[in-house]
Order: sequence, then structure tokens, then C-alpha cells
Amino acid sequence: MTLVIAIDGPAAAGKGTLSRRIAEEYGFHHLDTGLTYRATAKALLDAGLPLDDEEVAEKTAREVELAGLDRSVLSAHAIGEAASKIAVMPAVRRALVEAQRAFSRKEPGTVLDGRDIGTVVCPDAAVKLYVTASPEVRARRRYDEIVAGGGIADYAAIFEDVKKRDERDMGRADSPLRPAEDAHLLDTSEMSIEAAFQAAKMLIDAALKEKI
Ligand code: C5P
Repeated sequence: MTLVIAIDGPAAAGKGTLSRRIAEEYGFHHLDTGLTYRATAKALLDAGLPLDDEEVAEKTAREVELAGLDRSVLSAHAIGEAASKIAVMPAVRRALVEAQRAFSRKEPGTVLDGRDIGTVVCPDAAVKLYVTASPEVRARRRYDEIVAGGGIADYAAIFEDVKKRDERDMGRADSPLRPAEDAHLLDTSEMSIEAAFQAAKMLIDAALKEKI
């Protein structure tokens, strides 16, 4: 039986780093589902196709290859914005969720992170975590990341962006971002990534012990 760990939460809450560490710890496969939306958006942008045509976006979503997804080529701000626009389309979500579910069945286990993993993609996941942090902390982390990478960043603009993305992700009709009823909440506002990992590991070990 495959063990699935579902990790959801808003943008820049630290779920990417956390998910990768968890996957490494347990020897599980990891899928960052945000990349599937980003890859679809990038393919549309590169081909000069519209972002508001559901049929075209669905066809593009069905062509996305999960194997080659790489955040470094999909991290641009414009791609994130476009991704959250096409993510409101039910046909796009259906196509990507099918591929994500197929991935989730890989042996011996998988870690999927995103917005709707515990609620829609893998409602039967063995463990569900909802990772969050205040919008201020998330904007600060993104700002520090850009500056550390040698870039120039505007904190106020990033903060507005984080709030706008939250509104779009939490307010959409299809699969809005929200914790599953049986998710463990992990607020990382005042935690280092190491502390968040240790907290997550304790929750996962306890949940796995019950399942086995
Ligand atoms: O996580 P990331 O910022 O890369 O995701 C980009 C966008 O893709 C999100 O803002 C969200 O709108 C969408 N997304 C989603 N469901 C997921 C993962 C991402 O709707 N499971």
C-alpha cells in the first residue's frame, strides 16, 4: 500500500522546502503540484496562447510532463500570476488532478504539496499537514530569498502580491485553498525550517504508527 503525505498551504509558507525534506527523510517520491499549474501557464505564455480560453488551457495541461518539472525555470513572477489565473478553470484542474493522483500512487510512498491535496487530490492521504505563516512573514521570506540571490526586491509590492494570491487561491469556486478537516495545522511564522521539519516529523511518525 502506498503511503501519501498531503501538504497544503498558501504561497511562500515554506511547504516546498518542508516537503522535499520530508520526502528525503522517508524515501518517498515528491511532487510540487504548483509546478504543474506553472508549467501549463508557461507553455501557454511561450506559445502566445490566451490565458482565458479554458479549452486551450485544458489541452495544454494534458500535455504537461510531470517528470521534467523544474522550479528554477518556472519561478518567474509572471508565470506564478498566470498559473493562479488558469488554476480557477475546472477543466484545467481536472486534467492536472488526474496526473497528480496517478503520481500519488507510486510505491513506497509519496509527498504531494499544493493547495488542494488533502481536500481534493488525495482525500484519503495517511497524513495531512496545513502549513501556514502570516502574510508579513511570508512576504519577508520571499524578499530575503530574492535579495540573497542577488536580486532587487520591493517588500511592499511583494506583500501586496502575497495577499492578492491568497485572495485568488482562497476565493475561487473550484477547490479553494482551505485546510482539510483532518489536517494538522503547522504555523511556521515563528519557526525555523528545521523546527518546522521536526514538528512535521513528529506528527507524521505518530500518524504512521496508527496506520501501520
Ligand atoms: O505553489 P505555487 O505558487 O507554485 O503555485 C502557483 C499557483 O498554482 C498557485 O497560486 C495556485 O493558484 C495554483 N495551484 C493550485 N493548486 C495546487 C497548486 C497550485 O491551484 N495544488
